[in-house]
Amino acid sequence: MIIGVPTETVPGETRVALVPAEAEALVDRGHTVCVAAGAGDATDWSNADYRAVGCEIVDDRDGVFERADVVLQVRGIGAVDELDPYDDDQIAVGLFDPYNVDDATFETLADRGVSAFALELVPRISRAQSMDALSSMASIGGYKATITAAEALPKMFPLQMTAAGTVQPADVFVIGAGVAGLQAIATAERLGASVRGYDIRLEVRQEVQSLGADFVELDLETEGSGDEEGYAREMDEEFYRQQRTELTRVVADSDVVITTAAIPGREAPELVTAEMIEGMDPGSVIVDLSAVTGGNCEPTVPGETVEHAGVTIFGPTNLPATVSHHASQLYASNVASFLELLLDDEGGVAIDTDDEIVDSTLLTHEGRARYPHLPDAPTDEDEDEDEADAPDADTEEGDR
Ligand code: NAI
Repeated sequence: MIIGVPTETVPGETRVALVPAEAEALVDRGHTVCVAAGAGDATDWSNADYRAVGCEIVDDRDGVFERADVVLQVRGIGAVDELDPYDDDQIAVGLFDPYNVDDATFETLADRGVSAFALELVPRISRAQSMDALSSMASIGGYKATITAAEALPKMFPLQMTAAGTVQPADVFVIGAGVAGLQAIATAERLGASVRGYDIRLEVRQEVQSLGADFVELDLETEGSGDEEGYAREMDEEFYRQQRTELTRVVADSDVVITTAAIPGREAPELVTAEMIEGMDPGSVIVDLSAVTGGNCEPTVPGETVEHAGVTIFGPTNLPATVSHHASQLYASNVASFLELLLDDEGGVAIDTDDEIVDSTLLTHEGRARYPHLPDAPTDEDEDEDEADAPDADTEEGDR
């Protein structure tokens, strides 16, 4: 197979989909890996590094699309005109932002015969752990959220007992203890802060406590708030109203609040209002990781840093890109594991839609947009039946 790695086009995207170590493994297995000149420049990998492991360097991004059977990207659909380079029957693997991209885009990819795999949709099952790019990126996001807060806070995180007096540790409160939240908690603990964590799913209490943090319990009925994959379900507005009331005191007592509450495919729930922030001490810091999906805090502006009542509120949308070396390394490892599903022993590609991971991630295939992320999307069987039932376009009306 010819496996291609184009340059990324989304502004600020510094990650690269394949790092030399993973590329080398593919070359060793007999595949050709062609990399657009400069694809690794934004991080640490030069054209020479890729050449050294047997990759071919192609002059530009379009050249990669022209040659590759399989295109590996970080952002499967990036900046303007991103669909243009995709070619007939190409396989594309990347983050395709399926919940936000419009149907027309998927229909265009389908019309071009592209088989596009969205890594966001890798199910949270043990066999797919090594392919779970959302988790590996969320972990980096959680780490960097804490570092961002520590840098901006005009206080130190750890307890310091000095001849000049004692400095109390910073109070850090993390809302949402999924992958990003747990990493934010772990990082804040390592920096010596006094850390509290909270999640609507009470089953994460032990994970929070095992990191050394306190788990905040609110007086709320949380029955049915989680699913078997470890994701939260959307609750009604009355629940969120009560939750905000209960959270007000804890937020006010915190120097740093890191919010990571997320529900797959939905806007982030608003858990911290402007009024709640007014109860915090001036100089406090909020990092709203859920800015990507609208934010957990009322004043959050995605991609910007704003101030409200003297509190700084960060709304980062791509923290992994600020740690491009390790983010690329982990992402490339996820991509390489995913490729294992597709590459057969003869050096070709086999797309088996009976495989749960393939079925969950395959956005477009054989000319059809499949919408695997939508609960009411037609299955492949439905489509096959529809095609069998449909009148033959070439048949005269009177012949039927
Ligand atoms: P996750 O699904 O593992 O964790 C989200 C957690 O929020 C779950 O444990 C869930 O139970 C909890 N939650 C949902 N509703 C809640 C509520 N009302 N109250 C309390 N907890 C609630 O998601 P993950 O992977 O940890 O990502 C978290 C967020 O961070 C996502 O929005 C993701 O897009 C974002 N993210 C942002 C990055 C950035 O650079 N800004 C980088 C990586 C992730």
